[in-house]
Amino acid sequence: MIAEKDFNSLIEKERKIINAKLKKVLAKRKPRSLYEPSDYILADQGKRLRPLLVLFAAKAVGGNYKQAYNAALAVEMLHNFTLVHDDIMDNADKRRNKLTVHVKYDVNTAILAGDGLLAVAYEYLLKDLIVPGNEVAQYFTKGLVEVCEGQSLDKEFELESSVTIADYLTMITKKTAAMVEMCCAIGAKIGGGSSDEVNALACYGKYLGIAFQIQDDLLDIIGDEKEFGKKIGGDLIEGKKTFLFLKALTKAKGKERTALQKVIINKGIKSTEVENYKMLYKKLGVLSDAQKEIASYTKRALRQLIYIKNIQENELFTFIAHSLIKRTY
Ligand code: IPE
Ligand code: IPE
Ligand code: MG
Ligand code: MG
Ligand code: MG
Repeated sequence: MIAEKDFNSLIEKERKIINAKLKKVLAKRKPRSLYEPSDYILADQGKRLRPLLVLFAAKAVGGNYKQAYNAALAVEMLHNFTLVHDDIMDNADKRRNKLTVHVKYDVNTAILAGDGLLAVAYEYLLKDLIVPGNEVAQYFTKGLVEVCEGQSLDKEFELESSVTIADYLTMITKKTAAMVEMCCAIGAKIGGGSSDEVNALACYGKYLGIAFQIQDDLLDIIGDEKEFGKKIGGDLIEGKKTFLFLKALTKAKGKERTALQKVIINKGIKSTEVENYKMLYKKLGVLSDAQKEIASYTKRALRQLIYIKNIQENELFTFIAHSLIKRTY
């Protein structure tokens, strides 16, 4: 058994390397009007979960994970591209404790900054993919297409009154889990993993991603604004069909049901009402329902790891899943 602190220091070490490499990616590119706003979102604060998964998946299948750095940078850029556009779509003004790109600059700049990140992401992905390049690019493209589809469903659901939890799961499997799945798959592919290993890590990523988004929805209401780095209650304000909201709808009756239906009719709530809805969620028990759902998807992710024979990497992926459950941001 490897000590937790060793995993933490390994993760920290790789996070630093990723941050240092990301700093250089756009630093000298011109025009600055395009790359400076992209650099602003890419700078430091993110957890860097996705590039870490690429590197560790390559390592888990016995590959030389240094060959996966460019792909790792590519997925972080791809992720940041989705965040910039997501914040425009969600009218969010804060991310990672900073102003979002469209608020700091303007919407047009943010659209272009996102597109620029996407383009450079591809450039890095393709840099040194000689052997399994084709399949890696296919996984990457599939991840991107699914994010766009999932994001479109997320917006569509804001206006729909009959969204089910099954619809929600389809939506988050696309908007969030597809990218996490892709990170694990391309890392394993670049590392030369067998098809069993690539599939197992891909499924691990998918279930981890589903748990991750349910937890993001949960943190959106119970998180500490300073730590979470995003506005608390943002999902309710925007009328998002989150796990909490849909679960609450299945349980509420009478006045409580009317209060939830008001969110649908008015397409969201005011900031001043967030606390009331938090109390309603608590009363209906949906905060603990979400916690159970997160634990259950995490367990499903962990079950995939039987295919990872390398003990240290097996433990590392177990550790990552457990630390995500405990996260506060
Ligand atoms: C935010 O992703 C978007 C979601 C899929 C919930 P993260 O929570 O990984 O954001 P950063 O990169 O650490 O800021
Ligand atoms: C976004 O989900 C998933 C993406 C594809 C970016 P959210 O809209 O919940 O992400 P946050 O909470 O703004 O980071
Ligand atoms: Mg969103
Ligand atoms: Mg958002
Ligand atoms: Mg969210």
